[in-house]
Amino acid sequence: MFNTMTLTKTAGALIGSLLFLLLVQWGASSLYHVGAAGHGDEEHAQAYTIPVEESAGGDTAAADAGPSFDEIYATADAAAGEKVFGKCKACHKLDGSDSTGPHLNGVVGRAVASDANFSYTDSMRAHASEDPDWTPAALSHFLENPKAAVKGTKMSFAGLPKAQDRANLIAYLETQK
Ligand code: HEC
Repeated sequence: MFNTMTLTKTAGALIGSLLFLLLVQWGASSLYHVGAAGHGDEEHAQAYTIPVEESAGGDTAAADAGPSFDEIYATADAAAGEKVFGKCKACHKLDGSDSTGPHLNGVVGRAVASDANFSYTDSMRAHASEDPDWTPAALSHFLENPKAAVKGTKMSFAGLPKAQDRANLIAYLETQK
């Protein structure tokens, strides 16, 4: 009776631990397989991911390495800018007199909304407190998309999307004192 109990217990424990071991082994091996398969996949994925990341990084690096506005401005062509100013002529003069827009001679480096004879919008006046001077960079930012840079401006001009055009134009304006 005692022996049978011990035997049963031992057998039970043995079977139990065998079953446990089998489960552990199965679990471990399936984990191992999944891991191994996953690892293989990972290696494949990485073979893809790494070049993609590198090319993404490369793109970013290329964008970063691309000429900044200052760099473009440094080699800007004022003569080409005079042609771009053709788009502004309908509203802006360069002889110190105002028309639809304020005169633009001397605008590079001028304080924003500082032409005493011109009636600016409140938006442009408010812009002056955010960004006080028409530095070449500030002009470039405004001229890229005037309505976005100064919300509520009455300057009805779509903008100059090309940095080169803006740089050339600003270089031209700089010659108009
Ligand atoms: C359809 C008319 C129109 C055109 C075209 C136009 N502008 Fe203007 N511009 C205005 C008006 C109006 C204002 C005043 C905006 C305000 O008060 O909100 C203005 C304001 C400005 C100012 C701010 C000046 C200051 O004294 O603070 C700059 C700089 C400027 N324009 C540059 C340009 C340039 C450069 C072009 C051409 C690429 C151009 N504008 C095209 C009408 C125009």
